[in-house]
Amino acid sequence: MSNYHIKNLEEYYQVYRKSVRDPETFWEEVAEEHFVWRKRWNRVLHWDFTKPEIKWFEGAELNITENCIDRHLATRGDKTAILFEPNDPNEKAQHISYKELRRKVCQFANVLKEKGIQKGDRVCIYLPMIPELAYAVLACARIGAIHSVVFAGFSASALATRINDSECKMVITSDGSFRGNKTIDLKGIVDEALESCPSVTSVLVAKRTQTTIAMKAGRDYWLEPLMEVAYKDYVPEVMDAEDPLFILYTSGSTGMPKGMVHTTGGYMVYTAYTFKNVFQYRENDIFWCTADIGWITGHSYILYGPLANGATTVLFEGVPSYPDFGRFWQIIEKHKITQFYTAPTAIRALAKEKLDYVEAYDLSSLKVLGTVGEPINEEAWHWYNDNVGKGKTPIVDTWWQTETGGIMISPIPFATPTIPTFATLPLPGIQPCLVDEDNLEINGSPANGKLCIKFPWPSMARSIWGNHQRFRDTYFSTFENKYFTGDGALRDNTGYYRITGRVDDVIIVSGHNLGTAPIEDAVNEHPAVAESAIVGFPHDVKGNALYGYVILKETGEVRNHDNLRKEINQLITEKIGPIAKLEKIQFTPGLPKTRSGKIMRRILRKIAHKDTSDLGDTSTLLNPEVVEDIIKNAL
Ligand code: WTA
Repeated sequence: MSNYHIKNLEEYYQVYRKSVRDPETFWEEVAEEHFVWRKRWNRVLHWDFTKPEIKWFEGAELNITENCIDRHLATRGDKTAILFEPNDPNEKAQHISYKELRRKVCQFANVLKEKGIQKGDRVCIYLPMIPELAYAVLACARIGAIHSVVFAGFSASALATRINDSECKMVITSDGSFRGNKTIDLKGIVDEALESCPSVTSVLVAKRTQTTIAMKAGRDYWLEPLMEVAYKDYVPEVMDAEDPLFILYTSGSTGMPKGMVHTTGGYMVYTAYTFKNVFQYRENDIFWCTADIGWITGHSYILYGPLANGATTVLFEGVPSYPDFGRFWQIIEKHKITQFYTAPTAIRALAKEKLDYVEAYDLSSLKVLGTVGEPINEEAWHWYNDNVGKGKTPIVDTWWQTETGGIMISPIPFATPTIPTFATLPLPGIQPCLVDEDNLEINGSPANGKLCIKFPWPSMARSIWGNHQRFRDTYFSTFENKYFTGDGALRDNTGYYRITGRVDDVIIVSGHNLGTAPIEDAVNEHPAVAESAIVGFPHDVKGNALYGYVILKETGEVRNHDNLRKEINQLITEKIGPIAKLEKIQFTPGLPKTRSGKIMRRILRKIAHKDTSDLGDTSTLLNPEVVEDIIKNAL
């Protein structure tokens, strides 16, 4: 029986039981089988969820890039590691071999060193999906610097917040980025952000769009000339298994984004293991995950997981709608993609277009399809299954989080019978449970509750950068001795899990996690706004969209509401990014509040959902009359 390439459901249960009965032996076997360790661990696992303190492979030493690159050179030196598909289909794709990847990463590592970056320093990476992004991430890992990739769709202000939170010493960016028919001035955004980032001493700029940009003397350097003269070898820094590998920010229900800290050894073992298992990866497959490396999906399943397996991984710069809605399918045909991993929001957007776009291409290379990021609705699942998978290709609906580092609940292709909208069964080593309103674990099925995980797994986040207390409060204090996911789920009679969505104030819009608090803060900064509350409502392409209730200041002045809506969204774009724009904005004289002054979001959510049949008891509100007014004027 192999821990990988599980062939049928019975074998899955055998492996699963083994992993739960003796997790340490299970993960030790996986860790021994596949990786290069410079020093072996003293202890597989140490954990205490009350602190919380989690350590995997303690005492072990390694460098993750040695495992993702160097180790493959003997057998796969000329194999394509990264297949870069540019935004413009007329620009040639680049096949970057493992040998070449090593050279680029080593040169980049030397550039970082020359600019004074040391082990443990934080480096912010704000780049489009171009090969330099992969080189930058891996170069940081090679020298032991902690990378913090910020999605290049975030605004200057959001970028500055993230740079300052982890006191990054350097920013790596490009002159600009191509997205569909748009060119975005990335360097301009960085310049604006850096006006308020005292920790940054240098900026490396990759050339992509040839846009004319300002270069600040003594701070900004073009990457290319530095790479050209850099030495082509770099001995990987030896890291402890528990040394931080990266920080990645994710939205919380309140306050600042949370800089999730992931460490080296466990993250490597788990992403490599799940990549191979969930996608049933075989040598010579061509794997394509359409996420951006700015999100955890890109970290784990464009870079680290596939490269640790010596796979060929596709890096796509563009968007699904350019030059037309057939772009994804054209790329699948062109590169003979075997595993395709995307988000429900992309599927819904493409399902709205003519079927001709899909039917024009030969998709017969596909073996496994995947989705991630939000619940997939039944209609989208069937469209994906029928038109992309032609009814023959298993779909893995993978549930996981930035915090979990890797896929947690997912079918295993060809072994787990799939049911649309169900993420199905926990992967080996993962022990989920459901918890009820009284904080008690629900035994038996069917059941509906809050989703928790009872036992550590190797790639779980270890902390929130600079705020371990918040890590404890957010994830480990709601339910004793359990990691709380923030998601609700139900479990059917066969033990299959279906994720029903967030149970907190995080809203997933087009697969992006958005906390309502920072958006409300942005709205409230508008001089005409007194107060605001934001909730989510169902949207047929985005999954959820944002509905803002806004109270205007009473100035006696008459304002044009459409102009105000534009200004508010402009402000959100500046403060956070266009992904956080409000779909609907309702101006209202008041918001329903409890006697202690808390906004009753439950009521606002129902109104936004156009479901006002049962608003519950509103008599305890401070201002029950306002509810009628809001319903009457709902959009
Ligand atoms: C949601 C993305 C239903 C969930 C890897 C989770 C999902 C949040 C699924 C994490 C899925 C992710 N089915 N919901 N297959 N996958 N989610 O941190 O609410 O960007 O908590 O990580 O996305 O989003 P994040």
